[in-house]
Amino acid sequence: MEKIKVLFVCLGNICRSPAAEGSFRKLIQEKNLGSHVSVDSCGTAGYHIGELPDPRTRKTAAKRGINLTHKARKFTAPKDFQDFDYILCMDKSNYSQVQQLTPEEDYLKKVFLFRIFDSERGFEEIVPDPYYGSIEDFEEVQNIVERASLGFLNFLIQEGKLKS
Ligand code: 4NP
Repeated sequence: MEKIKVLFVCLGNICRSPAAEGSFRKLIQEKNLGSHVSVDSCGTAGYHIGELPDPRTRKTAAKRGINLTHKARKFTAPKDFQDFDYILCMDKSNYSQVQQLTPEEDYLKKVFLFRIFDSERGFEEIVPDPYYGSIEDFEEVQNIVERASLGFLNFLIQEGKLKS
């Protein structure tokens, strides 16, 4: 089976998308699906290229047993559309920025709002930006990305892309 390639996207690639990447990778490893899935993250902006995730993101992830070592990079078109099967965006701004960069309409079916996979989202469709917030906001992001990771894994299984 070909590997499923998943890309998480936020603005700076130092808070939400590395948290999502780490959370989804941990889940995949726990389910012994590591050889079937590859995971990466990036940002629509280049402010923090080459940096490790924000210390608050790393601290929050570490409390859940996740070590984040990703270095920030910027979303690159057309390469990221070609390289990835699922492009999961944290908010509507990231989502529309990515959509605007597509060289082919067909790639748009790869692009989703990640929060639609959160079982407790209610009417919320976005993972809120915690950058100017408190440590509680980072904890909330971690909770959201963990639930949405589980929802996305179940979606892949239901779609027949992965075996449970
Ligand atoms: P992220 O959060 O998009 O979740 O990585 C942000 C990180 C940096 C900035 C904004 C949001 N910034 O303005 O530098």
